[in-house]
Amino acid sequence: MHYKEASFYVDPVTLDSLTLSEAVSDGDEVISGVLVSASGHRFEIANGVPNLVYPFELPPADRESLQQTEARVDGYDRYLPLTFSTYGEDEQLVRNAMIDKLNLRPESVVLETGAGTGRDSEIIAQRLGTQGKLYVQDLSPSFLARNVERMRSNAVRTEPALANGYYLPFPDNSFDACYHFGGINAFADIRRAFSEMARVTKPGGKVVVGDESMPPWLRDTEFSRVLINSNPEFAYPLPLEKLPVQARKTRVEWIIGGVFFVIDFVVGEGEPKADFDFPIPGVRGGSHRTRYFGKLEGVTPEGKRLAYAARAKTGKSMHQWLDDVVRQAALRDLGSNE
Ligand SMILES: C[S@@+](CC[C@H](N)C(=O)[O-])C[C@H]1O[C@@H](n2cnc3c(N)ncnc32)[C@H](O)[C@@H]1O
Repeated sequence: MHYKEASFYVDPVTLDSLTLSEAVSDGDEVISGVLVSASGHRFEIANGVPNLVYPFELPPADRESLQQTEARVDGYDRYLPLTFSTYGEDEQLVRNAMIDKLNLRPESVVLETGAGTGRDSEIIAQRLGTQGKLYVQDLSPSFLARNVERMRSNAVRTEPALANGYYLPFPDNSFDACYHFGGINAFADIRRAFSEMARVTKPGGKVVVGDESMPPWLRDTEFSRVLINSNPEFAYPLPLEKLPVQARKTRVEWIIGGVFFVIDFVVGEGEPKADFDFPIPGVRGGSHRTRYFGKLEGVTPEGKRLAYAARAKTGKSMHQWLDDVVRQAALRDLGSNE
């Protein structure tokens, strides 16, 4: 970990800044030490890699997925190409096309979570210049160690850390782009993962996430049953309802034989904005705002019939007629000084 990173990382749960202590360094690199937050949370640095994983006691789903990942570290890079060749796909082409969606520039600062052994990390790094920077994170120490090994000879500044993809140890608006491919289906909190990616990405930046998901229109096919039998992760639903409200220009594509999704969106601020105030043409009249915020109580069927007839006679819109009637009656009952 570079010395300067101590002031960039934050406590993944409280978002408090961290203080480096007990540091042992080699030039600018901190080899070991502890990052401590105001709340007293301690995050160890070992072999130059901070462990910022939170919760300290992982939920069962993540513990199980971590055990499975650790167990397959040796075969991972050997067998992973099968994921692509099964469908006649070229892994490099597919990964490059996903990374295209990040809209990277040479100076981009990028976060990759669930980075694994670095099969995408090295492609992302190729897109960055000396001003760019790549943070690679994973839950699994063995996978991240492979990643560090793979990225060692890379000229681009890379900062590895152990971290949980749904508790990101960064302040808001830290990155130009955020990327995650594979493994998110098994996260104990997928909604929080998307929300965290949106939080740490600057408004206007990109989030790109992919994983297995058999499209709904293929679920009842032999093709689907064969694949789900071998890998139950294909049965995971597309996590569209777990996207954050800040997601804009959201796109979904099915890739790798059409059985993996890749979702990408531009990070916006809060809920989308729209003009709720233009007068809506027609007999009802009013605006989106008056229709939603101006609702009053219901009336009797006879009162309603009379109101409709009176409105038609005046030629006003229903909104205008009601607004006039309610105002007049209210002013009459309140006296004239309102
Ligand atoms: C299928 S691998 C994909 C690795 C890499 N992205 C690739 O494309 O080769 C899934 C990765 O997600 C990581 N992972 C699983 N749960 C995680 C979590 N809660 N937070 C961060 N990483 C996680 C695993 O350790 C593993 O490295």
